[in-house]
Amino acid sequence: MIKGKKLYEGKAKIIYATSDKNLVIQYFKDDATAFNNQKRSVIEGKGVLNNRISEHILSNLSQIGIKNHLVKRLNMREQLIKLVEIIPIEFVLRNVATGSIIKRLGIEDGTVLKKPLIEFYFKNDQLGDPLVAEDHILAFEWATKKELDKIKKTILRINDFMVGMFRGVGIKLIDFKLEFGRVKVDDKYEIILADEISPDTCRLWDSVSDKKLDKDRFRKDLGDLIPAYTEVAKRLGILHEQTNLSAVNVTKLSSVKKKVR
Ligand code: TMP
Ligand code: ASP
Repeated sequence: MIKGKKLYEGKAKIIYATSDKNLVIQYFKDDATAFNNQKRSVIEGKGVLNNRISEHILSNLSQIGIKNHLVKRLNMREQLIKLVEIIPIEFVLRNVATGSIIKRLGIEDGTVLKKPLIEFYFKNDQLGDPLVAEDHILAFEWATKKELDKIKKTILRINDFMVGMFRGVGIKLIDFKLEFGRVKVDDKYEIILADEISPDTCRLWDSVSDKKLDKDRFRKDLGDLIPAYTEVAKRLGILHEQTNLSAVNVTKLSSVKKKVR
C-alpha cells in the first residue's frame, strides 16, 4: 500500500491518500486540543495509544456486526481505513451528565441518566460545533430520516457493547462521541461508523474511585494523561505489563512529556 498525499489534517489526525481510491491512511497525532482549539498541547505518545485503543474497540464492534471504516492497523500511528463521506454531525451519547450538558442545563455533575441520551452537534469549528436538533439535520439535509434512524439504533448498540466491555475492566463509560460516514456499496450508499473511539472521544471513570481516565485530564489540567490512557489500554488487554509498545517505551511515556505550543 503506497502512502500518497495528505488529504486532510484535523486537530488530532491526518488523512493520507493511498494507491487505492477507496482507502486512506489515518495517522494519529500527539496533539491535544480542547474548547475548540483554544487550548493546545502536544502529549508524546497519545497518538500511539489512541491508535491501539481505537483499533481494539472498532475490531470488537466489527465482530458484533457493527460496520466501520477500519481495515487494519498498519503501524504504531497509522490505520488503513475506508474513505467515507463524513456526515457533518458529532453524535454524543451520555449515560451520566457531565461536561458541556451540566453547564448548558444546570444539571448536577454526575447525575446518572434514566436512559441514554443522544445529542447532535453540527461539525463546524467556526461556529464552535453547536448543539442542533434532529429537525435541523433533516431540514439542512445533513442526513436523511432513514440514515438518522439507523445511526441512532447503531449508537445504542455500540453503547450497550461498550458499557459491558468497560464494566468488565472496572471502568464506567460516562459518555462518548461518534462520527458516521457514507460508503458506496454496489451503487448504494451505506452508513458506517468512522473516526475513532478512544479516551480522547469518551469519558471513562474508574468504577471504584471515579478517577478520570480520559481527555478530561487535559481539559481540566489534571495531568498524567499518558498513565491514564495506558491504564485503559492495559485493562482492555491491549498492553501487557511487559509490553513496551515496540518503538515507544511506556515507562518513558509515563513521565508525560508535555510541550505547550
Ligand atoms: P461534552 O460534554 O464536552 O459535550 O463532550 C461529550 C463527549 O464527547 C465527551 O466524551 C467528549 C466527546 N467530545 C469529542 O470527542 N470531541 C469534541 O469536540 C467534544 C466537544 C466532545
Ligand atoms: N476536540 C475538541 C477541540 O479542540 C474539543 C474536545 O475534545 O473537548 O476543540
